[in-house]
Amino acid sequence: MTIPRLRGAALATVALMATGSAVVPGPAAAAPGAPGTPRYTAGAPTVGDPYFPDQGNGGYDVQHYDLVFSYDPATRFMDATATITAVATQDLDQFNLDFRGPEVSSVTVNGHAHAFTRDGQELIVTPRPKLKAGQRFTVVVRYAGVPGPVTDPDGSIEGWVPTDDGAFVVGEPQGTPAWLPTNDHPTDKATFRFTATVPEGLTAVGNGQLLSQQTRDGWTTFVWDNTEPMATYLATITIGKFEVTQTVTPGGIPSYVAIDPRLVAGSADAVSQIPKMLEFFTGKFGPYPFASTGAIIDYAPNVGYALETQTKPIFSSRASVGTMAHELAHQWYGDSVSPERWSDIWLNEGFATYAQWMYTEYNGGASVQQTFNSSSNYGRAASSSFWQIVLADPGPEDMFSNIPYNRGAMTLHALRGKVGDDAFFRILRQWAAIHRHSDAGTADFIALAERESGQNLGAFFDVWLYQKGKPTTW
Ligand code: ARG
Ligand code: ZN
Repeated sequence: MTIPRLRGAALATVALMATGSAVVPGPAAAAPGAPGTPRYTAGAPTVGDPYFPDQGNGGYDVQHYDLVFSYDPATRFMDATATITAVATQDLDQFNLDFRGPEVSSVTVNGHAHAFTRDGQELIVTPRPKLKAGQRFTVVVRYAGVPGPVTDPDGSIEGWVPTDDGAFVVGEPQGTPAWLPTNDHPTDKATFRFTATVPEGLTAVGNGQLLSQQTRDGWTTFVWDNTEPMATYLATITIGKFEVTQTVTPGGIPSYVAIDPRLVAGSADAVSQIPKMLEFFTGKFGPYPFASTGAIIDYAPNVGYALETQTKPIFSSRASVGTMAHELAHQWYGDSVSPERWSDIWLNEGFATYAQWMYTEYNGGASVQQTFNSSSNYGRAASSSFWQIVLADPGPEDMFSNIPYNRGAMTLHALRGKVGDDAFFRILRQWAAIHRHSDAGTADFIALAERESGQNLGAFFDVWLYQKGKPTTW
């Protein structure tokens, strides 16, 4: 779901209603592909992102995911019904969802039960009646069993990670299909609702706003509503024993912070600075892009990283001030503006890291220039392996190494020096405004930087993004 595609889909739906014919195949004699003649084919099994070749699918555009489930940490058993609303973007006789979760008991499309098959992470559905381009359709997938983690090319884990009191749920870059059938690529954003039932005493924390929380017969049901478009990798419904604090920031944004009681003291400084961080970033980047904020601070020592889950960043141990600033900055850069391809990861990590440097300076710590110069950044020897990878294409093993983070932030600082503060902050604000709740790639960023600065930046970006080696002149 993107704004332009949504508009197209809405028009197509109107056109269908006007002709009054939903799924009437054309006359048998018509030439294949003649105007108005449906040509039903299978949607592509991938969006073609080379870092994760099985990710995403073609032929439809998801509008909304609704997941209703129960989870018992004692048995690790999940019982789930996922309802996916989508619009066909071609005449479809087959389509795939990405799903690595437990056993599927049934799949229906528009209420009709269907045979389905599974092949690796592909859940292959053959809808009958077939679907016409522009048609809105609803898929219901029922499944139950024990979901688990996914291991990434860099050896880290994500997906559904059981903890000692629940589950730590993260999905960048490919973990969400561990527990939810999706079109798993950042280019198909959608809205989400999670209805999670967990043993009384535990809390299930999702993206967006809490609609209700009700306890009956020893189980509590939480309903979370995420009404702004979200990439699948930013979804969470993390479960555990949490201390919850609900407030409203001075800027008027409702905040829900859930902290594992073991981590409250160690995270207090970072949590207390959330309003100050949001205010600082709003001043630099433009309006906060979502209707709510907060954080989830859980104890999942085998995960070892934090993630910018939309509206509520998640931490797998104590939250530090620097990491909190990084994850909140991602709400603008990464969450609202998401990468078109995973090779564009520097647009996420470089921006969030640069924001973290800026916040450190604002907070009385090292200046951005000092951080740029330091021995973990520009101060690294030209012979260091740090410089031997192309920043605009680090590869799936290095997408979360320090290269996209630190060299990405350095690229932005070098750009700032090149175009001056006025143009630089205009570029950052425009980037957030133009691509709000959507996706964009490196070429879009270069074009925007050239437009806003009035400079030809081809050589500059070539040195910083596309060449190996330590930049010396730019
Ligand atoms: N985007 C996250 C951050 O910078 C890191 C995610 C790492 N994911 C992974 N599977 N290793 O905060
Ligand atoms: Zn990050």
